[in-house]
Amino acid sequence: MLRRKDLLGIRDLSVNEIMTILQTAESMKGIVTGEAAKLEVLKGRSAVTLFYENSTRTRMAFTMAGTYLGAHVADLGVASSSVQKGESLVDTGITLDSMGIDYMIMRHGMSGAAHLLAKNVKASVINAGDGANEHPTQALLDFYTIYEKKGGFKNLKVTIVGDIAHSRVARSNVFGLTQLGAQVTLAGPGTLTAKSMEKLGCTVMTDVKAAVKDADIVMALRIQLERQKGGLFPNLREYSQIYGLNKEIFEYAKPDALLMHPAPVNRGVELTPELMDSKVSVIDEQVTNGVAVRMAILALLQEGRENA
Ligand code: CP
Repeated sequence: MLRRKDLLGIRDLSVNEIMTILQTAESMKGIVTGEAAKLEVLKGRSAVTLFYENSTRTRMAFTMAGTYLGAHVADLGVASSSVQKGESLVDTGITLDSMGIDYMIMRHGMSGAAHLLAKNVKASVINAGDGANEHPTQALLDFYTIYEKKGGFKNLKVTIVGDIAHSRVARSNVFGLTQLGAQVTLAGPGTLTAKSMEKLGCTVMTDVKAAVKDADIVMALRIQLERQKGGLFPNLREYSQIYGLNKEIFEYAKPDALLMHPAPVNRGVELTPELMDSKVSVIDEQVTNGVAVRMAILALLQEGRENA
């Protein structure tokens, strides 16, 4: 079980908690693939998704995860809600609390938004991405995919390439993978990487080939044009020529290396379609694992609530 009300960031989780989530996800995966019967551990419970930013994978994965566990899952539909009349985040949360909602799963453009909501509601809050801060459930599904494919983390070289500066996925992965014993290298243009991230125990480079050399896992990140003010690189064509991953660069990684990407992918920018669609890619499996991991998180939080 998780003995905490909320899941807000990887930074707060112990190695034990992370491993409990991964092992529980392993036992849930058969439900996602149709090989095991659905559960009812959330029967009578309610969950709401509040997405102030767009999403396909995270929102749908939580919806399916809650449904497979027997919960009632509803979407607030932020674009058509009273948020558009100026209702604050805290007032929106208190309103949902008054309806007896058990789980609030929120994505927001502001770093710290999930923490603010969690302080003000009785419901368990799950951070589905807050600004450039953290995306803990994405990182947990990344960890699960690595664990499933490689059997552990000790001394694995994980190279993350792309728009590091704006990436909550990179931050959550660094917080967790360094704790789990992996060696993490971040790579991208100087304007999209921050040398200061080395304080977190990783290596930061601008030479992609050197960063990919001997990697066990190569994770590409999306260029987040929506968070950039412009001028950070000349244009997408030049970015893809220098920092985009293709089969030739991937040859520098270990022979059994895997390609990951949190998606959505800008095809032809951070990855060539040829590499993305090749057998080294586990991007589709990451999506499947995302449902299992979110089931594990909901089930473990519920167990904690029942034993509080
Ligand atoms: N990886 C991820 O968070 O995807 P969505 O934006 O589609 O949820």
